[in-house]
Amino acid sequence: MIYLDNHATTAVHPEVVEAMLPFFAEYYHNPSSGYRAGKTVQKAIAEARGEVAQLIGAKEEEVVFTGCGTESNNMVLKSLARIYGRKTSRVITGEIEHSAVLRPCQAMEDVGFEVHRCGVDAEGRLDLGQFKEACAGAETGFASLMWANNETGVIQPITEACEIAREHEIAFHTDAIQAVGKIPIDVKEVPVDFLSISGHKFHAPKGIGAIYLREGVRFEPLIRGGGQEDGRRSGTENVAYIVGLGRAAKIMRVAIEKDRHAGIAANRDHLEKRLSEEIEGVTLNGSREHRVPTCAHVSFERCEGAGLLILLDESGVMVSTGSACMTGKQQPSHVQMAMGISTEQAKSSLRISFSSFTTREETDEAVEKIKKAVKKLRQVQGGDGVGPVMVYS
Ligand SMILES: Cc1ncc(COP(=O)(O)O)c(C=O)c1O
Repeated sequence: MIYLDNHATTAVHPEVVEAMLPFFAEYYHNPSSGYRAGKTVQKAIAEARGEVAQLIGAKEEEVVFTGCGTESNNMVLKSLARIYGRKTSRVITGEIEHSAVLRPCQAMEDVGFEVHRCGVDAEGRLDLGQFKEACAGAETGFASLMWANNETGVIQPITEACEIAREHEIAFHTDAIQAVGKIPIDVKEVPVDFLSISGHKFHAPKGIGAIYLREGVRFEPLIRGGGQEDGRRSGTENVAYIVGLGRAAKIMRVAIEKDRHAGIAANRDHLEKRLSEEIEGVTLNGSREHRVPTCAHVSFERCEGAGLLILLDESGVMVSTGSACMTGKQQPSHVQMAMGISTEQAKSSLRISFSSFTTREETDEAVEKIKKAVKKLRQVQGGDGVGPVMVYS
């Protein structure tokens, strides 16, 4: 099987598994306990926090562990909503955000917040002019914009957006879940106030995330209780998963420092080149210049993405149409709509996403299988445009 859906989730790195294992049966003690075994566990958490902090250029005390990326986004947005209140301020976000930002914003709208959603250009990058105008307009409490898009992999102009927000004293959150571990991030250089992280996007397990809270920012905990995480996220720590996140952060930091992700981009570029040269009617979507190394977003004229996905799955290649959360629904994705891509082109697209585990052989084999699947689907669907998908086997 060839796994090319790494924006949905990644395989847990073997070194991460190894680092986690002792914390299930051997070092299972509660880190809050007073005896020495508890201290060992506490130390492991501190080391993991240090690694996550280093990955993004933060201080250790600015990192709070959470249950997942969705929790990270909700925690920050709900805290900001409580701090700023609905009467005095509005919220600025983007049209292409993940549902883990869109839905909390929608919930704020339902209770009376004014939510302003900024669009993107044809390459999938935030329209900074719109953002600037929105910041200069009515009194705004906070803004939330993603660092890299989950469907297209397009990197957003976060430094510029963040600086504009600062000029207007607007608190700034970024969902960096598809950026962390893939590209260099340094919160000393990019003055975000809040940043969300999810472990399973960079070879830690599912069910562990973190938030970065810049020193001195106001924050209202969503989960209160025993006061863990310095009172910012109560609940007995998920020690093994925290250790796993720390180890994955270390592996990714070293890979970024040594430019090892260039190999991931090389496979992605190779696939794109071959698909464009060897299949007619292929369009590569999204910015070529500003993107994470892991993602290709490709449309195949006269082919339904949903049909391609099934044929490819049958031939042992796992990819996605649009974002993982959209799979199964026949709607074109909100991201592609925001980019001005036609419904037809949007429905005929695949997200093919890579990791450092993807080999050149697998990439070439996937190209061959995509070529076959496209040919078959075009034969079945016939005619012009996206027709009904009748036969998949
Ligand atoms: C950009 C983005 N934000 C948030 C999430 C949600 O993260 P998690 O699956 O850890 O809850 C995802 C996962 O697909 C994502 O890609």
